[in-house]
Amino acid sequence: MKVLVTGGTGFIGSHTIVSLIETGMKPVIVDNLDNSLPSVLKSLEAITQTTIPFYEVDCNDQEAINQVFEKEKDIEGVIHFAAHKAVGESVINPLKYYQNNVGSLIVLLEVMKKHQTPHLVFSSSCTVYGQPGQLPVTETSPIIPAESPYGNTKQICEEVIRDTVHSSQADLANFQLNAILLRYFNPIGAHPSGHIGELPLGVPNNLVPYITQTAAGIRDTLTIFGNDYDTPDGTCIRDYIHVMDLAEAHVKALQLLANKSENGSICEVFNIGTGKGNSVQELVHTFEKVNNLKLNYEFGKRRPGDIEQIYASVDKANQQLGWQTKRSLEDGLRDAWNWQQKLIK
Ligand code: UD1
Repeated sequence: MKVLVTGGTGFIGSHTIVSLIETGMKPVIVDNLDNSLPSVLKSLEAITQTTIPFYEVDCNDQEAINQVFEKEKDIEGVIHFAAHKAVGESVINPLKYYQNNVGSLIVLLEVMKKHQTPHLVFSSSCTVYGQPGQLPVTETSPIIPAESPYGNTKQICEEVIRDTVHSSQADLANFQLNAILLRYFNPIGAHPSGHIGELPLGVPNNLVPYITQTAAGIRDTLTIFGNDYDTPDGTCIRDYIHVMDLAEAHVKALQLLANKSENGSICEVFNIGTGKGNSVQELVHTFEKVNNLKLNYEFGKRRPGDIEQIYASVDKANQQLGWQTKRSLEDGLRDAWNWQQKLIK
């Protein structure tokens, strides 16, 4: 299957490219390099030993996206990663987030409709659950109004896709859209080769890049945001999933779409996590242990908007996607550090 991957040089996108090629799929990358570097493409080609079609295009540019579809001709599926993801920035500049995250999805759906492209996998987030009343969260747990414009864009995009699948079921023009919405928990780690990994431009917002940059001496001290939460050690709990496990979920999603959609349109949502929660402090200690080093860290104030704890039920993904995690937290933290060390050299 030829698959258009938007945001294919980003963190999750680039690892998914490797998994797609390993399973014999043919990815085509579209990325505007807003939050990634062109060197990622070279690294991907080194890992996979293949030439990957790449278009430096903004997903909001409908004409340019249409041209990619025309040039590539037989695109059967789209994985839509490209989006802004900095929660704090989205509060300061919400229009940027609505324009980019919601606007680009609408552009893609228009072009997919024009070209009768049947399969879509969408990057959603566990942020749609807010602070769940019950853990682990299942796909039927309530969706809580988002605390940030970023979170809101994920909820809105899910709705836009659901409505489009429903309308396509009744469409006299005979456009059949099938979609899988993957709600990611917290991706960490890197490809074991150390050729690709998470590459935040500027000061990292996310925990693991902050940890690896502190260990590398790029940052002085990691601040753990809050140790007075109602959790065993007082720090927040998340479900940290190895990015290669997450990447493989996209391959399974495309395979499910290809098999199931013969019997009519489908729109399914899956949690993609490990099913296990770890605290920030546990994560820091595990990082120190597996990499045999000491990290400078201190406890600071809570970060506004953080939720106390969340982790996934992954039963649905295990059963219906036929997908399982294969890598541990230790693997993820070892691979993240391996990648960071290669970056410094
Ligand atoms: C956040 C978003 C999530 C989004 C993801 C994408 C919220 C509530 N959630 O996830 O919707 O999909 O980013 O990037 O904002 N931490 C520290 N010190 C640091 C950095 C983080 O202690 O320097 C802690 C945080 O307080 C949190 C945990 O580490 O408890 C994970 O934080 P982070 O990596 O930013 O991810 P989320 O907040 O879970």
